[in-house]
Amino acid sequence: FERGLLTGRHVLINAGPTREAIDPVRYLSNHSSGKMGFALAEAAAEAGARVTLVAGPVNLPTPPRVDRVDVTSAAEMLAACEAALPADLFIASAAVADYRPASCAPGKLKKETDSDAGLTLTLIRNPDILATLAGHAQRPGFCVGFAAETDDVLGYASDKLTRKNLDLIVANDVSQPGIGFNADDNAVTLIDRSLAPQPLPRASKHKLARQLIAVIADRLTTSA
Ligand code: PMT
Repeated sequence: FERGLLTGRHVLINAGPTREAIDPVRYLSNHSSGKMGFALAEAAAEAGARVTLVAGPVNLPTPPRVDRVDVTSAAEMLAACEAALPADLFIASAAVADYRPASCAPGKLKKETDSDAGLTLTLIRNPDILATLAGHAQRPGFCVGFAAETDDVLGYASDKLTRKNLDLIVANDVSQPGIGFNADDNAVTLIDRSLAPQPLPRASKHKLARQLIAVIADRLTTSA
């Protein structure tokens, strides 16, 4: 891992989950801890980049020399990512909620005391942050997505690579124990449009982040 690989580059990374409010005390979210994205931000800063890290609600310290912007919802995460443009590289490691409640109740929702009836929440689609940035007038020169999948991992990941107009996708099999959401380790496969899929075997998220940043920096140089 060479220091200075990304000197002079602005790298935008998003990380962690988003929270979508149901009412003032409840929300929809997922198990992302932010560890993968924070490790990437740390590695990019070590490689010499100026790094903006847009973080959902996580319990992690900010890596050295990283500019951190904290957000809660997908809408806020999109706004913060757009506000950080222009960037040379965008890495979307966040687990953005695909849906949010159609409205946030102004007060705490009460349960019907005399009834066993369930409660139906209406959900609406959230914006796709990665697809928005990859189609943006100020599109980062190199856009990297993650694909968290439980089956046909490489198939669905390749589909996201083309559908979201990406330069590289990191396929993450989140059905395997000990890797993926909230784990300290990960194992991924890198897929782009030309080369054969490149597996990065199980390692700590810190080690994998350095490997990923080295691969991406190499592609950035050859595509520049
Ligand atoms: O945070 P950790 O605990 O360390 O876990 C890491 C991780 C498993 C969350 C990470 O490695 C990972 O796989 N992140 C992507 C999770 C995800 O939401 O994948 P997806 O297949 O649903 O989305 C595909 C891509 O589109 C992702 O880059 C995602 O950031 C992006 N997306 C998805 C939906 C949406 N509304 N907006 C987006 O930008």
